[in-house]
Amino acid sequence: MNHMKAVRIHAYGGPEMLVCEDAPRPVPQAGEVLVQVYAAGVNPLDWKMREGWLKDFRHDPLPLIVGGDISGVVAELGTGVVGLQVGQEVYGVSGSMTGGYAEYAIAQADAIAPKPKTLNHVQAAAAPIVAMTAWQALFEVGQLQAGQSVLIHGAAGGVGSFAVQFGKMRRLQVIATASAQNVEYVRGLGADRAIDYKTTPFEQVARELDMVLDTVGGDTQVRSWNVLKSGGILVSTATPPDREIAAARGLKGAMMVVQPRSSLLTEIAGSIDAGQVKIDVQKVFPLVEARQAQELSQQGITRGKIVLQAIAA
Ligand SMILES: NC(=O)c1ccc[n+]([C@@H]2O[C@H](COP(=O)([O-])OP(=O)(O)OC[C@H]3O[C@@H](n4cnc5c(N)ncnc54)[C@H](OP(=O)(O)O)[C@@H]3O)[C@@H](O)[C@H]2O)c1
Repeated sequence: MNHMKAVRIHAYGGPEMLVCEDAPRPVPQAGEVLVQVYAAGVNPLDWKMREGWLKDFRHDPLPLIVGGDISGVVAELGTGVVGLQVGQEVYGVSGSMTGGYAEYAIAQADAIAPKPKTLNHVQAAAAPIVAMTAWQALFEVGQLQAGQSVLIHGAAGGVGSFAVQFGKMRRLQVIATASAQNVEYVRGLGADRAIDYKTTPFEQVARELDMVLDTVGGDTQVRSWNVLKSGGILVSTATPPDREIAAARGLKGAMMVVQPRSSLLTEIAGSIDAGQVKIDVQKVFPLVEARQAQELSQQGITRGKIVLQAIAA
């Protein structure tokens, strides 16, 4: 069997471009692992890639299988891979954040790790990209330490919901924004203050902070400079902060791009298995309904995560 089911696009465009069809099963090269995918997480990046937002600088060949988050079982090892075994349950990031919406996907060995023991594959597939993004934004780019303060925008979403939980785990002061239906949810994740951003300008509550984690961009980002203390940092996952504004106001700004690594996945799995971080899957779709899953993701109102299930287990 050198074929598999995969959800591919043959041209950039709307959700109707996603086609579930037979595709060649990939073969792992040196340093790579072939994973039998049980579940694939759905990220906003996936529909952005489908629409061609990144095509001019990534040059991904078509047809393209989108999807970067996977959880499954090691099916085959490329040469030189050590520390992983065929049959092992793993979670992590496939390809260069592509290839995940399929029955089999290639991952770099250093972008996957043993799956959290307390999670099933659907839950595990919800975590890798958003959890690593939240962690790296707060602790590696933002360099936050216990006792420091952060405003997290989009706290009900994938990145935000992990950031709130990691923030509390590391004893940060966490203020979070969400719409009315998610305010209690965000408090339940551990936020010290949760602001309904549609009725309360966040500047009325948040002041003199060490960091803003912006997962929204636009006007939300522009207004966020006003809530930082001198020397504070605005880290965005959505759009690059304006460096001139930052410099003129004695602040720092950084666009965050997640760097997957297995050691961090292992650390995150430890936090999950210790009960310090919870996974919330809002909706599960079968792989063949990737189109409906992306349509929901694209509405920008996800609470927790959306996941595709390739194999029931
Ligand atoms: N650069 C990177 O490495 C990287 C990695 C991961 C993600 N990202 C990007 O980061 C962004 C967020 O990703 P995600 O996976 O967390 O998205 P998501 O799961 O779709 O969540 C989006 C959340 O934003 C909230 N929201 C929308 N407008 C808001 C506003 N004005 N103020 C506060 N919250 C608002 C929504 O909640 P309500 O319904 O409560 O408004 C929703 O929960 C996306 O642009 C994604 O592409 C980048």
